[in-house]
Amino acid sequence: MSNVIWHEHRVTPADRARLMGHAGAVVWFTGLSGSGKSTVANLVEERLHRRGIHTFLLDGDNVRMGLNPSADELRGVYGDEFARRFGLGFSADDRAENIRRIAAVAQLFAAAGIVTLTAFVSPYRRDRDAVRTRLGGDFVEVFVDAPLAVCEQRDPKGLYKKARAGEIKNFTGIDDPYEPPLAPEIHLQADANVPETLADQVVAYLQMTGRIP
Ligand code: ADX
Repeated sequence: MSNVIWHEHRVTPADRARLMGHAGAVVWFTGLSGSGKSTVANLVEERLHRRGIHTFLLDGDNVRMGLNPSADELRGVYGDEFARRFGLGFSADDRAENIRRIAAVAQLFAAAGIVTLTAFVSPYRRDRDAVRTRLGGDFVEVFVDAPLAVCEQRDPKGLYKKARAGEIKNFTGIDDPYEPPLAPEIHLQADANVPETLADQVVAYLQMTGRIP
């Protein structure tokens, strides 16, 4: 048992929601690399922002550069031992920790009354379900569903090519699993629609369920 005690704040989530004009939420995009998570999340954020909704986007590659860097990035400044302990790669454990930290951050943003969008592969159902449990009714899971063949064909970062060549190990979809959500709040057919249409679907859902005015 640690001696850390959660403080109740005098300004409550309801107080913040009143000031913001809406409650916070976490809209969690999951899908293969190249499925369009970041692109759609960006468009959703733009649409919400234009409507006067307070938003923030946590994005896979950006978060891995800042909050959750690799051991290689940490080593130069902090040394080997520190890098080994805190650096994150793409093993199942490291992905679990990546998602756990992101969920904690997203929860804080949501508690601040911000509609928080996240775009991470988050390939393991167990990790995503843990986020759902942590966030309760504030969690909206969006499955950005595009077949591996389509993502590999797009290969926007050239990473599938490298994974096929064996230059990247544990690459999701190639030599690492992707476990699709069983009951996501939103299921986007990302190979059959342009990103703008997919973004409209997400915004329509948020409006229909009363999460945004
Ligand atoms: S997650 O699995 O832990 O959720 P995250 O979304 O943060 O992954 O990072 C995925 C991004 O890192 C991909 O979009 C890709 O650009 C890059 N990447 C590098 N190595 C891998 C890998 N082995 N598997 C998946 N993505 C990788």
